[in-house]
Amino acid sequence: MSTANILVDELTEDQAKQELARLATEIAEHDRLYHAEDAPVISDAEYDALRRRNLAIEQAFPHLVREDSPSRRVGAPPVEKFEKLRHRVPMLSLDNAFSDQDVVDFVARIRRFLKLEQHAPVAMTAEPKIDGLSLSLRYEGGRLVSAATRGDGQVGENVTANARVVADIPKVLAGNFPDVIEVRGEVYMTQRDFLALNARQEAQGKQTYVNPRNTAAGSLRQLDPAMTAARPLKFFAYAWGEVSEMPASTQTEMVDALKRYGFRTNELMCRCETAQELLEHYHAIEEQRASLGYDIDGVVYKVDDLALQQRLGFVSRNPRWAIAHKFPAEKAFTILRGIDIQVGRTGALTPVARLEPVTVGGVVVTNATLHNAEEIERLGVKIGDTVIVQRAGDVIPQILGYVEERRPADARAFQFPTVCPCELKTPVMREGTAGGGEGVVRRCSGEFACPFQRIEHLRHFVSRRAFDIEGLGEKQIEFFFRDPDIPVKSPADIFTLAERDAQNLKKLRDKEGWGELSAKNLFAAIEARRTIPLERMIYGLGIRHVGERTATTLARAYGNWKDFHDAALAVSRGDLSAREEMDALDDIGGAVIDAVATYFGEEHNRKLVEALASQVNVEEAERPAADSVVAGKTIVFTGALERMSRDEAKDMAERLGAKVAGSVSSRTDLVVAGPGAGSKLKKASELGIEVIDEDAWFQRIAGSS
Ligand code: IVH
Repeated sequence: MSTANILVDELTEDQAKQELARLATEIAEHDRLYHAEDAPVISDAEYDALRRRNLAIEQAFPHLVREDSPSRRVGAPPVEKFEKLRHRVPMLSLDNAFSDQDVVDFVARIRRFLKLEQHAPVAMTAEPKIDGLSLSLRYEGGRLVSAATRGDGQVGENVTANARVVADIPKVLAGNFPDVIEVRGEVYMTQRDFLALNARQEAQGKQTYVNPRNTAAGSLRQLDPAMTAARPLKFFAYAWGEVSEMPASTQTEMVDALKRYGFRTNELMCRCETAQELLEHYHAIEEQRASLGYDIDGVVYKVDDLALQQRLGFVSRNPRWAIAHKFPAEKAFTILRGIDIQVGRTGALTPVARLEPVTVGGVVVTNATLHNAEEIERLGVKIGDTVIVQRAGDVIPQILGYVEERRPADARAFQFPTVCPCELKTPVMREGTAGGGEGVVRRCSGEFACPFQRIEHLRHFVSRRAFDIEGLGEKQIEFFFRDPDIPVKSPADIFTLAERDAQNLKKLRDKEGWGELSAKNLFAAIEARRTIPLERMIYGLGIRHVGERTATTLARAYGNWKDFHDAALAVSRGDLSAREEMDALDDIGGAVIDAVATYFGEEHNRKLVEALASQVNVEEAERPAADSVVAGKTIVFTGALERMSRDEAKDMAERLGAKVAGSVSSRTDLVVAGPGAGSKLKKASELGIEVIDEDAWFQRIAGSS
């Protein structure tokens, strides 16, 4: 009889040994499938169950723990399969809309930004959002020269050999094409092909796949192009990157051009003029969703006129001129098994629901956020209840309520802990609100002593938008935090890892879960990040209220690490002029400045920052156009602007390398004043600062781009 079905309590020692061996092999295989192949064959819940069983047996028979036990391993070693390719034009993502109102707001925002009349038509396109993976194809002289996956948007994987075997992807362009063109679109698999492939796999006793998207991703990332060729992949073209000569001036015409070059484009794309029309098209596509034959997860709207797209530009990594309207969240019933408390970077305690695994919209859900104690009270849920879970897009699943009739007699109310679940058991504090009452957030008061907070800080530091060190993810950070030989307790320690490892007798490469290659790769990845852009450095510090956008504003304003650091220290010492200077920056207000002051007011943080700064080279902030006439100048816009909105003015000035301030001070170089300008104009003339009107502004910057 197989040992797999015997309860842990009933295993004999021999059986336990056998079972641990079986689990080690099986879990290692699932790790490989997940990390190296992109093709998990079991759900996260099933995987967790295997690991839990392994752990339970190890706890019952500690002397049987194997050298290669999965509980000793930190993820799978990184696999360097494909070369990296840097995108010449970044591959961006889209902001999401979830309701009709979000769409109306999106269109209104565009009109406001472009300073159009409230009801003036703005032509837009609406097309299905394909649930596949995006790919960028580069053609030179009409020949396919490279293909890259999206990766992190800046750098993707070179999958050229595989793209060449996809029938839908032209190897040579047709018609009258630009000399250089990067065509972007979505690789996907039809539902029918997916089912047939799975049936074949099953008949041959091979692994089967979870859904068409994972299958498409896994198929494109096969090391052997012959394997990719055997998979029926398809490709829809809908966007572009670098183009030497634009063949068209609207989205619609561009997509037509792509079609002429030999690409398949989506027939459901249509041109609309109002939010109402967009919504009508959205509902029409939604109705056809089930019969399309391929998975879609929403509708994408884009401004049709490419010149307007250019004016609208981007907010961090999303274009202002496009949005993805997602189909409604799917819901399911499941059982609330328990509630755990997670401690975040700022010490906030968040209750997390542990659920009986349930599939919601094609994804197995095992956890949902419960936000805070008040939310648990508001929902009225108890442990053991049948709850309704909702999942919308990439958002963390949520619990909407419970089913009264199904409440078991032994359902248990949850008691919110009064001490932090960390080993220090520090008391939990409730934050005050501005009104003097008690806030909903409970925080561990342990701060730098609380290991959870320290780990979360480090996790933030290495996260994608901060230092983004390959091979140093959440699990690995936790591993190093607890490692006795080369511990990482603060960000600077990351940059001394290689050196400390070299001095140590016990090497990382010999540790469980690591090897020669993965240790070497990790050290190389850390080295590669020793030079870091200023905005990533600022963001990585994990100052409260300083998100990516604020970090970018600060970076652009101060230009280099020293100036930012000096300003932050000055603010923390209560230096009023430094505070004023920071306050003058657009989008930066009291909450951010207080957070900067608090952060740099802590000696622990100052030391941490100093140690880090001595390890890394911080690049100067990107000055978008150093040669423009307003580069490096501080500009204030005031009064009514007629040819552009305030947002567009700000965006334009920043693209030209200027700083935009919200108030006039002695540091202001130029004031652009429209009709109705008041106190700022007065102050400018008092200080003798140059003032020009909107037309003069356009004349001045004409020629700069
Ligand atoms: S446009 C600058 N159009 O959705 C915007 N994206 O969340 C370029 N996607 O990474 C993207 N269908 O992989 C666009 N018709 C469509 C799409 C689409 C699917 C994916 C794409 C992108 C993601 C953004």
